[in-house]
Amino acid sequence: MKVIGFTGSPRSESNTEILVEEMLKGSSDTGAQTKIFNLTDMNIVPCKACMHCKVNEGVCATDDDMQEIYKELKEADAFIVGSPLYFGEMSAQTKPFIDRLFAFYIPDSEVNSKKNMAFVFSQGNPDEDTFSEYYNYMKTIFEMAYNVVDVLVSCGNQLPGDVKNKTDVLENARNIGKKIVESN
Ligand SMILES: Cc1cc2nc3c(=O)[nH]c(=O)nc-3n(C[C@H](O)[C@H](O)[C@H](O)COP(=O)(O)O)c2cc1C
Repeated sequence: MKVIGFTGSPRSESNTEILVEEMLKGSSDTGAQTKIFNLTDMNIVPCKACMHCKVNEGVCATDDDMQEIYKELKEADAFIVGSPLYFGEMSAQTKPFIDRLFAFYIPDSEVNSKKNMAFVFSQGNPDEDTFSEYYNYMKTIFEMAYNVVDVLVSCGNQLPGDVKNKTDVLENARNIGKKIVESN
């Protein structure tokens, strides 16, 4: 069993990254192998919409760091995507990675494997309802290609590391990390 985490915050002591790591801890506690990629350290260019992937069984023609991720994702049983919320949506560092997952979206193909996945979002606003429409929307979109096990939203994280004292949120993250493995 292999679980991969992706995190799209550019800052150190990122709350998003802390939560993705906590989820992976939950997965590894059940015996899963885990790996984390910081998308901000990688060269992932936006999708060029060439549709090469659609006629080549999910193979993307763009030769950048996404090729390593495609390989890892094919081998993985589940994955986690974490992003800070910027102006009500995922960060610009996360978006090219998400668009490039389109390569694997081929209905009725083995490439489109309905793997388990979970989202993590960290936001500064303490109100959990303000952006709930966006989080529900992300779940709906991803349900077309994956089994979205959970969407964890951590609110009121303005400064780096704010989430470290939120033991309930950290525990929830570990439980989701377990769940994506156990519900496989
Ligand atoms: C460019 C930018 C835009 C932001 N937009 C929002 C927003 O729309 N709503 C919100 O609640 N917080 C917003 N924030 C705050 C971040 O979402 C928040 O600090 C988050 O916890 C950062 O996650 P990180 O620690 O993983 O980087 C914004 C921060 C930045 C830098």
